[in-house]
Amino acid sequence: MRHRLAPSLRATRRRFLAAAAVLGLAAGLTAGPVAAEEVVNIYTTREPGLAKPLFDGFTAATGIKVNSVFIKDGLVERVKAEGAASPADVLMTVDIGNLLDIVDQGVAQPIASPVLDAAIPANLRGADGRWFALSARARVAYVSKDRVKDTALTYEGLADPAWKGKLCIRSGKHPYNTALIAAFIVHHGEAKAEEWLKGVKANLARKPAGGDRENARDILGGICDIGVGNSYYVGLMRSGKGGPDQEKWAEAINVILPTFEGGGTHVNVSGAVVAANAPNRANAVKLLEYLVSPAAQDLYARGNFEYPVVPGAPVDPIIAAFGPLKVDNVDLVKVAGARKAAADLIDKVGFDN
Ligand SMILES: [Fe+2]
Repeated sequence: MRHRLAPSLRATRRRFLAAAAVLGLAAGLTAGPVAAEEVVNIYTTREPGLAKPLFDGFTAATGIKVNSVFIKDGLVERVKAEGAASPADVLMTVDIGNLLDIVDQGVAQPIASPVLDAAIPANLRGADGRWFALSARARVAYVSKDRVKDTALTYEGLADPAWKGKLCIRSGKHPYNTALIAAFIVHHGEAKAEEWLKGVKANLARKPAGGDRENARDILGGICDIGVGNSYYVGLMRSGKGGPDQEKWAEAINVILPTFEGGGTHVNVSGAVVAANAPNRANAVKLLEYLVSPAAQDLYARGNFEYPVVPGAPVDPIIAAFGPLKVDNVDLVKVAGARKAAADLIDKVGFDN
């Protein structure tokens, strides 16, 4: 994934000082005793290219300095090992499973914030205030512009024999697909999910492989007519951020937002928690509240083609063109809880074989 280069720290500081001067705050920097610097410390698994503009926006809005540490793997282990001495105030990651792992490992603390409660729908945050989704990504269908006339689909319908030999998908064991199968289990139970997964497997045009974008590539190549992928990859491909080849892949597809029968479109989320031992707790809450502000939600939408978590916040035009998103009504905590059963089913039906 390619991202615009983050602005240099010096440029950021220059911008902040300029903004402070405009606001008349600069006086405090030159006259009288200097107060201790306000900071917030963030551990994040999110791409720095996306996260940095959010943090810069927060600093510009509040004057609070952000220290961020990008951690690809082992975020929870690190915070646990640091214990009470951990400098982390906020932990940011993707996937409900990762968020709940943080909560279950005891390294999140409950936050009562009327701002967060008003901004984030109840099914997209922990009832106890220990985790908050900040953006959503829909699991959608990429369909051939030339060969598929359907304009609506259900996830159940992916097992329809009409798609025999026409479906492309990445490994069932990838967290995106495991969560989708887990959501199916929550909707319909394990027995029906097994029957469905066998039907989906019977429709495969090739072995599950690659990433989501390769489904669009293989639709262009005539290998398949339909693929399952995340919504934001279409934004990355169509915008040209993924390079010229991917623009061509995206030209070959239309996007349909499937729904579960009696439900909506499956989403996975990005989100954050306030760390249990946060030394700057108040600033951590301020940061989370900033991240659901219109300015920050717009950065999620434009920077990474994600769906803002705040209902009604604008989405990028490329994503808006898919039509309105009706987020599935299942409890994300239940979906995370069904991941083990989903993984077992994937093995049982030999989905990836
Ligand atoms: Fe992804």
